[in-house]
Amino acid sequence: MQECADWLGKKFGEMGMDAEIVPTAGAPVVLAKWKKSGGGKRRTVLIYGHYDVQPAEIGDGWTADPFEPRVINGMVVARGSTDNKGQIFSHMMGVAERIRSGGPDTDVIFVVEGEEEVGSDNLEGVLRARKEELACDVAVISDTNMAGPDKPTLTYGLRGIAALEVELTGPSHDLHSGVYGGAVVNPITVLTRLLAGLHDEKGRVTVPGFYKKVRKVAVWERKAAKDLGVSDTEVRRQAGSPALAGEAGFMAIERIGMRPTAEINGITGGYQGPGPKTVLPSKASAKLTFRLVPHQNPKEIADLVEKDLKKRCPKTVKIKVVRHHGGFPYFCDPAQGFGPAAVRALREAWDGKKIQYLLEGGTIPIVSVIKKVLGVETLLVGLSLPDCRAHGPDETFPIEYLERGAKMNQALLREIAQV
Ligand code: BES
Ligand code: MN
Repeated sequence: MQECADWLGKKFGEMGMDAEIVPTAGAPVVLAKWKKSGGGKRRTVLIYGHYDVQPAEIGDGWTADPFEPRVINGMVVARGSTDNKGQIFSHMMGVAERIRSGGPDTDVIFVVEGEEEVGSDNLEGVLRARKEELACDVAVISDTNMAGPDKPTLTYGLRGIAALEVELTGPSHDLHSGVYGGAVVNPITVLTRLLAGLHDEKGRVTVPGFYKKVRKVAVWERKAAKDLGVSDTEVRRQAGSPALAGEAGFMAIERIGMRPTAEINGITGGYQGPGPKTVLPSKASAKLTFRLVPHQNPKEIADLVEKDLKKRCPKTVKIKVVRHHGGFPYFCDPAQGFGPAAVRALREAWDGKKIQYLLEGGTIPIVSVIKKVLGVETLLVGLSLPDCRAHGPDETFPIEYLERGAKMNQALLREIAQV
């Protein structure tokens, strides 16, 4: 992490920016500023990205070392190539080029952190401590999906998240499953029933109160979702799955962007090594995340889930619920503020192609914090292709998108300066 931060700090310095590496209780945050002296009424744009990545191991299905970048058919293949190194680097290229030719059209602040993939817990403190220094008119982030190749996309909402872990304990230690099996409660059996009960047969989350604060989407939004041209078949193809699942009454792309969900991310218990082992386990646990939409609150949802799990859990086991990170959902009307400027910039960078409006299923926790602490909206102008395999094996980023992103950055700063 430190090496990444140092590398970025050096690069920003070479670009002619004022760079600083800010230590935190976790990974450092890299800040870099370019300010035109003389002042006047200039706009300031904050460009956010993250240098941390999701874990990757060759055993996950990579065709070579995930941390040795390769170029195959015009694609960079490496962990982080898209999420988020390629994308943030394209903005750096755009700004670097403008600094060489007279300076960007707005003042620029880069904020590149190292904890996005684990909930950005320490960045909020940095934003608060440096509120005046980071004052800006709008934030820009390329860490979201495009609707498809050559489909420039303005993402106008993100889902939030509430993450927790549930652990059940039955017997005080692992038992011989022949000697005790059939007589003593098995925590894996109890856990799987609890987890299976999170959804009803229509695919809806059963936690009482879960849907209470869900925003009602406007008619234009469902039309925009259809216009994306992303069919259920296409989503199924991307996922490489024999079938889709989810809430009845919505297309896959709508379930992803507009609806809240409950996911089981991992489940553990008993013996998992090679071959059989006749054991009746003492413990079973699962990692859960709930993706949230406006106006759900991650703390309130975690409270509801914990209450429901404890209520449904039989007295035959001990239950422990541990809270992990939370992030608020985000929504910003693309017709307001700098939205139209972003649309013009995207159109320019993609040679006049039609702009898509997307509600994203993923989470970027800092976006709602930027709104709360710095008081500005975020333009989400992502360069990730839907099949880039972010978080998966053989993640890719088209080299061509470095140039596109740089061009988009320059068009965007110019458009923002003119609003
Ligand atoms: N870039 C993603 C978020 C994203 C994914 C946006 C797909 C658009 C499309 C981001 O880096 C990410 O993965 N965030 C985590 C955050 C979480 C761990 C708090 C996520 O969404 O799982
Ligand atoms: Mn990610």
